[in-house]
Amino acid sequence: MNKLELISRLNNDLVNEYTHMHFYLHSSFLVEGTYRHEVAEWLAEHAASEFKHIQEFAKVIVGLGGVPRTDHKNIPNLTDPHEIFLYAQQLESEVVANYAHRMEEIVDSKELDISDAKYVELFLEDQLLDSRGDLDEIVQFLKRNIK
Ligand SMILES: [Fe+2]
Ligand SMILES: [Fe+2]
Repeated sequence: MNKLELISRLNNDLVNEYTHMHFYLHSSFLVEGTYRHEVAEWLAEHAASEFKHIQEFAKVIVGLGGVPRTDHKNIPNLTDPHEIFLYAQQLESEVVANYAHRMEEIVDSKELDISDAKYVELFLEDQLLDSRGDLDEIVQFLKRNIK
């Protein structure tokens, strides 16, 4: 993997972070049921933490000489809290796997400058910790039917 490929992969990660932010925020508007208040609050807070991830990714991309993407993937209109958390579980496990895989690719790459490589590896370590923490919390929510 060279620097351009690294920037392009980080841009794909950025698209996922935008997707997460949109999903959590949108779901906070739509969620229904007895626990709407608590769930909507959690989702809105979560959207704010994804906004922070977006800023962090964009800064790293610009620092590497790239231009951050601004698009996101389509998200569903879900109202049921259990379905929302199931979808969130899918989103978060996907990115945790992506970051772990990306870190390996960076370590294996002979074409990257060592400072770029270590910087991005450490950055992704932080993102992995955050997303894995979220994922584990979401899995806890899913252990009970919260309808
Ligand atoms: Fe996320
Ligand atoms: Fe995130």
